[in-house]
Amino acid sequence: MPLLEARHLSKTFASGQTAFGTRAAGRIRAVNAVSLTIEAGETLGLVGESGSGKSTLGRTLLRLIEPDSGEVIFDGHDVRHANGSELRRLRRDMQIIFQDPFGALDPRMTVGQIVGEPLTIHGGESPAARRHTAAEIMRAVGLDSSALGRYPHEFSGGQRQRIGIARALVLRPRFIVADEPVSALDVSVGSQIVNLLQQLQRDFSLTYLFISHSMPIVRYLANRIAVMQHGELVEVGTTEQVTTAPRHAYTRTLLAATPEMELSSP
Ligand SMILES: Nc1ncnc2c1ncn2[C@@H]1O[C@H](COP(=O)(O)OP(=O)(O)O)[C@@H](O)[C@H]1O
Ligand SMILES: [Mg+2]
Repeated sequence: MPLLEARHLSKTFASGQTAFGTRAAGRIRAVNAVSLTIEAGETLGLVGESGSGKSTLGRTLLRLIEPDSGEVIFDGHDVRHANGSELRRLRRDMQIIFQDPFGALDPRMTVGQIVGEPLTIHGGESPAARRHTAAEIMRAVGLDSSALGRYPHEFSGGQRQRIGIARALVLRPRFIVADEPVSALDVSVGSQIVNLLQQLQRDFSLTYLFISHSMPIVRYLANRIAVMQHGELVEVGTTEQVTTAPRHAYTRTLLAATPEMELSSP
């Protein structure tokens, strides 16, 4: 059984805001009847140009956006119809890392408050235990626990992304949607974050949906690649198959458009 399964997920938005997406009766089909599975422990890369629906799909899987139709099954649980304690448990298990390390962190909160907030919301630990857990997760993402008393503006883009990762991991989730987590960073900082995500995947037994518009990054990280165009998955296959024997013309376009990018090995 896959860890996560999406069946015929669809999400439309009122049109007017954008030049992208296919339009139907004044609506943009951001996600159009998408079905996919994600196996425990794997990294599924989700690639496609800007506006193809990647973020909407990722957020719909986590129920940060309610789909119009379709199902999401996580570890045998119906995400769309979960409520109460079942929904709270699902929310612990499924987290997101955002693209923008500058916008994603509340500037008025200390790093300790930012990283500790999910623990406070979900409760069940004393303040001292929460501080201990927060300090532990800071070390895991390569930051000193002294950072907990400081504010986001005191950190570089790469450090802020580590803080965002710490917040996502502090509840020990099993599944992470990483939504373009290195797209706002320069290449060397981005490759450090990519290597960190790989390390954390091993240490915490994580399953990733790794969203990117960059085929080289996805090729480097993913076991399988899903290609999205105009709200639809046009191709899903192993990284080897998709990058060496693409079946869909759009995949070939993406491969041809992206130059080789160097990513330093850990
Ligand atoms: N909240 C929203 N309201 C209206 N349109 C949206 C909203 N979010 C996304 N869209 C539109 O849905 C389409 C897919 O967007 P998105 O999922 O952000 O794509 P991607 O992450 O691949 O760049 C785009 O046309 C986008 O403008
Ligand atoms: Mg996006």
